[in-house]
Amino acid sequence: MTAIQPHGGELINRLVSENEKSHLLKHAAALKQIRVNAWAISDLDLIGVGAFSPLTGFLDEKDYLSVVENMRLANGTMWSIPITLSVDPDLAKTLVQGEQVALVGEEDNVIYAIMDVTSIYKVDQQNEAIKVFKTDDMAHPGVDKLFSRSSTNIGGPIQLLNRPKPKKFEEFYFDPAETRRLFAEKGWKTVVGFQTRNPVHRAHEYIQKSAMEIVDALFLNPLVGETKSDDISADVRMKSYLVLLENYYPKDRTFLGVYPAAMRYAGPREAILHAIVRRNYGCTHFIVGRDHAGVGDYYGTYEAQEIFSNFTAEEIGITPLFFEHSFFCTKCGNMASSKTCPHDKTAHMHLSGTKVRGLLRDGQCPPPEFTRPEVAKVLIEGLRDPEYQV
Ligand code: ADX
Repeated sequence: MTAIQPHGGELINRLVSENEKSHLLKHAAALKQIRVNAWAISDLDLIGVGAFSPLTGFLDEKDYLSVVENMRLANGTMWSIPITLSVDPDLAKTLVQGEQVALVGEEDNVIYAIMDVTSIYKVDQQNEAIKVFKTDDMAHPGVDKLFSRSSTNIGGPIQLLNRPKPKKFEEFYFDPAETRRLFAEKGWKTVVGFQTRNPVHRAHEYIQKSAMEIVDALFLNPLVGETKSDDISADVRMKSYLVLLENYYPKDRTFLGVYPAAMRYAGPREAILHAIVRRNYGCTHFIVGRDHAGVGDYYGTYEAQEIFSNFTAEEIGITPLFFEHSFFCTKCGNMASSKTCPHDKTAHMHLSGTKVRGLLRDGQCPPPEFTRPEVAKVLIEGLRDPEYQV
């Protein structure tokens, strides 16, 4: 085991045992059914296996209000993003507090969980948007998502009966208990977690490898749940990570495993959630670079780093590693940041995401100082393949 304790002190496990399962499935079939979408199912799964420790279910009203206002659960534990289940208000009227319900996949009719409904409450979505996303602009993908849901939530502990099945790359799905065991087996005492929703470009590689100089290993932990439509699909990204790791990373110091969560685009607050989750997976360190989990111009370049100063090192538990905006400097002839490079901006290679996508769509590789050619090739192929719907 790595020495690091899960957030809240205990790794939560709400997955029922195989012995209990058939009995509980029968029980669940007789309960009121609530249809849940892929996003809610992924939250359920992450709660169930302890990635969201110490949560044991969807937030009740007390925890919800406390998280929105103070970035803490009602008991004071640091928690930055409301993990909530919204339901149809008419259906909510038929529920009574204390009742058990079955949470059923809206597309596949699978009973994923039983929930003890301890709280039924209405939320002020405007306030949530402003506090969590720092904007109520509907052009923000997280705000848009929030307002597309009903403002009635139900909260309470869950028991996970079935798990969502990965469509592809199943061998890269690990639960926190497994990653903790595997890191320990490898003898890694310090592991740095890396969140990404993008292909790994040279700037990502640079900050990962800078961190690898001071820890035992890298846990490359791409988010593969729901992302906005113009982000590159998880399948293409997975292919690109594999080719990158194969060619440029030491096998005995890198570990690829997915983070099957939805992207909130909540910038600073999401950086805190991302750190907590990586701590639960057993990482001791976590990289936060420029505009972590940001979108558009909603957040300051280093706001996702500054937010950590609201908490003590002890409560954060995992050590955040902050990195400046990194780039290739043509005069230095290497990757650098303003901390290490004396040259002015004209020497710094900068390519916007739009420009890079444009090049890839035209079948052209971005410069190797920006993206490894092997990665560019996979991305170009991915963009051409209709199966990937990039
Ligand atoms: S994120 O939404 O998952 O944060 P992305 O995949 O682009 O987006 O970033 C992954 C991590 O790399 C984040 O910690 C982000 O801050 C960092 N990062 C991305 N680009 C740079 C860069 N050019 N310089 C420094 N850090 C960066």
